[in-house]
Amino acid sequence: MEQKFAQEGSGHDWAHIRRVWLMARRLAAAVPEADREVTELAALLHDIADWKFHNGDYEAGPRAAREWLHHQGAPESVITRVETIIREVSFKGLGVPTPVSSIEAALVQDADRLDAIGAIGIARAFAYGGHKGRPLHDPAVAPVAHDSFASYQKNAAPTLNHFYEKLLHLKDRLHTAEARRVAQERHAFMESYVARFLAEWDGVDS
Ligand code: ADP
Ligand code: NI
Repeated sequence: MEQKFAQEGSGHDWAHIRRVWLMARRLAAAVPEADREVTELAALLHDIADWKFHNGDYEAGPRAAREWLHHQGAPESVITRVETIIREVSFKGLGVPTPVSSIEAALVQDADRLDAIGAIGIARAFAYGGHKGRPLHDPAVAPVAHDSFASYQKNAAPTLNHFYEKLLHLKDRLHTAEARRVAQERHAFMESYVARFLAEWDGVDS
């Protein structure tokens, strides 16, 4: 994964994968019943083939993870569990529930979402927006609470909208207590960042 994603510039780079891996491990330390191997494999493979870069093909990720694990000789039981986690991990729009079917999926989803908020989350949002050629902000474009994955996928709004459409809600959509604790400071930082951004936008900051 490090070799495959070294050159990636859209926010799904190896550095993101590494942070999610380390955070999933850290969150797993508070959950003795979690299978560490499955958690770590799923964290490392969760962005192996993101739908956003595969023509919206949502099965590309689970399929690529399955093929790679199979090639490594992993047992079918591990492959199936990792594949399911990768299918469940992604955010699909504010109005779309993203339930998890295992504690390992909860840990990986929490770790991935924690990397979308706070100082790094802010940087990733603007990096992604820049990658897509989007404006930073446009007060005339209202945020949308996407209630289907299809409408979320088609979204091309200015990057600041992404804070209202996803990032500022993530702290309330975490599964584990430790992730909620980590989210507090990241969320507060993001809120004060957006407030400053808007003040500077209109030149009314002190
Ligand atoms: P997830 O981590 O739930 O799979 P994504 O893969 O959709 O989320 O997002 C990966 C990163 O790209 C996150 O930091 C996310 O906030 C950012 N991102 C996704 N869509 C947008 C967007 N429309 N504007 C800005 N940033 C985005
Ligand atoms: Ni990710």
